[in-house]
Amino acid sequence: MSEIKAFFLKNFGCEPEQLAFAPGRIEFIGNHTDYNGGLVMGAALAEGITVAVKRREDRSVSLASEGSGSVAISLDDLQPLKGAAFWTNYPIGVTKVLIETGMRMSVGYDMAVTSTLPVGAGMSSSAALELATAYALSALYGFETGKAELARISRKAENEFVGMPCGILDQGVSAFGQPNSLVRIDCTAETFFTHSIPPDTRFWIFNSNVKHALVDSAYKDRYNECRRALAILQKKYPEAGTLTGIKREQLESCKTELGDLLFRRASHIVGENDRVRAVEVALESGDLVAVGQVLNASHESSRLNFQNSIEVLDFLVRAVNKQPDVYGARLTGGGFGGAVMAFTGESFSEEQANEVAQAYQNKFGINATIIQTSASHGAGLLGLDSETVQQAES
Ligand code: GLA
Repeated sequence: MSEIKAFFLKNFGCEPEQLAFAPGRIEFIGNHTDYNGGLVMGAALAEGITVAVKRREDRSVSLASEGSGSVAISLDDLQPLKGAAFWTNYPIGVTKVLIETGMRMSVGYDMAVTSTLPVGAGMSSSAALELATAYALSALYGFETGKAELARISRKAENEFVGMPCGILDQGVSAFGQPNSLVRIDCTAETFFTHSIPPDTRFWIFNSNVKHALVDSAYKDRYNECRRALAILQKKYPEAGTLTGIKREQLESCKTELGDLLFRRASHIVGENDRVRAVEVALESGDLVAVGQVLNASHESSRLNFQNSIEVLDFLVRAVNKQPDVYGARLTGGGFGGAVMAFTGESFSEEQANEVAQAYQNKFGINATIIQTSASHGAGLLGLDSETVQQAES
């Protein structure tokens, strides 16, 4: 019996009715552009979260996670929880938004959760949990909807129930991922496309295993700084609906009004949006060296302008870039800790990755976790017997 089914059986004494899987993601390029209405590209990972669900006869919701314990809550009182039960806010938030979107639930459910994703590594375990929940519950209660809508529902849960003002990058990539492809999202139009990447390239993730103590509030600070910068820019350019709708010359013309800090923040966002376009062009022409240079430039801008990098991430980026067959590297995700992603050729080896981790260990006395991964399928239901992902229509 599979791990998820065995875990469900152990907790609830019966077999589940639906299984769903949603992957974590790499943010390839487009840092903090998503909630600024811009462009972003990411890849779905092979690693992710699996959930198993079954309807109950009463109105309870009972949640059990292999790593984080169990919680029961009533369907009639869906409230965010604090402390050790915080993880339940992702599935409960999705449940609430699904109901608000029109899903009818007369009875509650039992849910078991297993994961192959590190938590807090910048690989979006929270979005994977949201999306796996959205897939499993919509199938369980017969609520028919497409994957873009499931991604939106999951993001809404995170914004409104969990209270994180994230954009749609994590949920969009987890929903639309394809093998050997990057998902490209236009976050104003909310359109999702895939770009193929050469099969002889690899992603290597170095999890710094360091997390900023106030990572959520640092993210919200950046979100608010971007809003303040936009409000100042809109006084002169009222036609700009988002920060990524501002041109470089327009930004330069408001340098004094913005002041140093907001100018740097806006510079990162405007530059990052251009970098997504530059990566697209370079990928189209097969110029992987140019792709790598843009990835490195993105990290530099994070370090200097957005200030969402920290010393350990800068070190990992420099160390991996010293190795042969590395195109480029950058922090991936929100920043303030978490992971660095390196984009490499196929000859980049485990020995090289270990050398990077050893240098990191020597410098900081911390073990970096190394994950070699490739772009994989997006979220979907799993067959109860075969447990292969069944891709939904968009
Ligand atoms: C986190 C958020 C995303 C995105 C990235 C930064 O992963 O969840 O929505 O803003 O940070 O690009």
